[in-house]
Amino acid sequence: MTRRIAELLRAGQPDETVTIQGWVRTKREQKGFSFIEVNDGSSMAGLQVVINPDVPDYEASLKRISTGASVEVSGVLVPSPGKGQRIELKAESVKVYGEADPETYPLQKKRHSFEFLRDIGHLRSRTNTLGAVFRVRNACATAIHQFFQERGFLWVHTPVITASDCEGAGEMFAVTSLNLKQPPLTEQKEIDYTQDFFGKPAYLTVSGQLEAEIMAMAFSNVYTFGPTFRAENSNTSRHLAEFWMVEPEMAFCDLDGDMDLAEAFLKYIFSYVMEHCSEDMEFFNKLIDQSVLETAENIINNQFERITYTKAIELLEKADQKFEYPVEWGLDLQSEHERYLAEDLFKKPTIVTDYPTQIKAFYMRLSDDEKTVRAMDILAPKIGEIIGGSQREERLDVLERRIIEQGLDPKTYWWYLDLRRYGTVPHAGFGLGFERLVQFMTGMANIRDVIPFPRTPQNVEF
Ligand code: 4AD
Ligand code: MG
Repeated sequence: MTRRIAELLRAGQPDETVTIQGWVRTKREQKGFSFIEVNDGSSMAGLQVVINPDVPDYEASLKRISTGASVEVSGVLVPSPGKGQRIELKAESVKVYGEADPETYPLQKKRHSFEFLRDIGHLRSRTNTLGAVFRVRNACATAIHQFFQERGFLWVHTPVITASDCEGAGEMFAVTSLNLKQPPLTEQKEIDYTQDFFGKPAYLTVSGQLEAEIMAMAFSNVYTFGPTFRAENSNTSRHLAEFWMVEPEMAFCDLDGDMDLAEAFLKYIFSYVMEHCSEDMEFFNKLIDQSVLETAENIINNQFERITYTKAIELLEKADQKFEYPVEWGLDLQSEHERYLAEDLFKKPTIVTDYPTQIKAFYMRLSDDEKTVRAMDILAPKIGEIIGGSQREERLDVLERRIIEQGLDPKTYWWYLDLRRYGTVPHAGFGLGFERLVQFMTGMANIRDVIPFPRTPQNVEF
């Protein structure tokens, strides 16, 4: 049976006969024998293989092997005399599956820029950095499910195609099967959506929250974890047009309970990744951002800061720093403000609560003063907003009023309003931007390098 290299490096014993499969990272030919390093993606480190001339077809095989070639090697594990590895594999047979012409294969030994690697998105996962990123990403996803499952949350699957705009921000991609060259028109010369696939306009979802609320009203505690889509034209290092979001929703829960869960959640994911991906995390700390390990320890061991939006504005007004965007009660916090608070002032994740009503979504619970809503954003050093959440408006009359005030049509939200008509309860939830979490965890500067296939304006190749 083929063995995974991570497992052999950890537990393989001298004299064991094993077979491995993977891609050649390096080849060194010496007088009388050759070394290759084989990587199968299970760990950052590859397995060193020694190939002696007594291996069948030595010359022919070696000619076909170069960086990037795919191979299967069978042989015996032996203690390694070289530095850097405990064991190595003494080959008894080598099979080359596919060559990788060194003249054209773009991934040679040298370090490539992340910009260059984005242009070869079909090959970049074979590099050390992207390999580490996607292993950490996998560990984060596992930790997320484990965290919720341990607490009795039901994983619910919310739709990708929807008719309602959860955030009310109008940043949705349309989904249609109409012929765009010649769409059917109504008498008023508008597109006749009754003839479209769903009989009305449909979109890719910006959030699974509204449907998660439906499910929370039956199962108490639920979460969604899936792709979400935003047609906002922001070409930044923190925005994607397609990103994954984790959204828990809890019945019988207020904003304090929401914040407590979010804080415990982030601490849990960091602990899990530190335990399960220590080699990759050391790599990030060494080569990408020297504060990665310290940040992780800080998250795990310290309480997050909690301040109101009003207090945040006061602190920003007092800051001995010039901001590009104005600071004024009623205006939304920009990324420079968020980073000042979390990175410079508190030097740890900071939860900002009670934002002005007019800058937040219609579903957030109105406070008694009516000036603010029970919202909370978690701001992370270097990233800014990583989580956005709130207590939801559970009062039918207030919710109806808020929908109308925001220029939305209560008719399209009839089922959402029904949840307040039948068995309504205080409830709360939040959304974690999964890629922003992976960025925060790994120190990667650009969000495009923490998702295998980034979707951004003008970019949908791979
Ligand atoms: O703050 P947002 O818009 O909140 C919601 O969508 C709520 N419905 C969540 C809820 O309460 N269930 O988005 C949540 C998070 C943000 O904090 C951010 O981390 C991430 O999603 N996010 C993005 N990540 C990458 N690219 C984008 N364009 C993002 N927009 C939001
Ligand atoms: Mg937000």
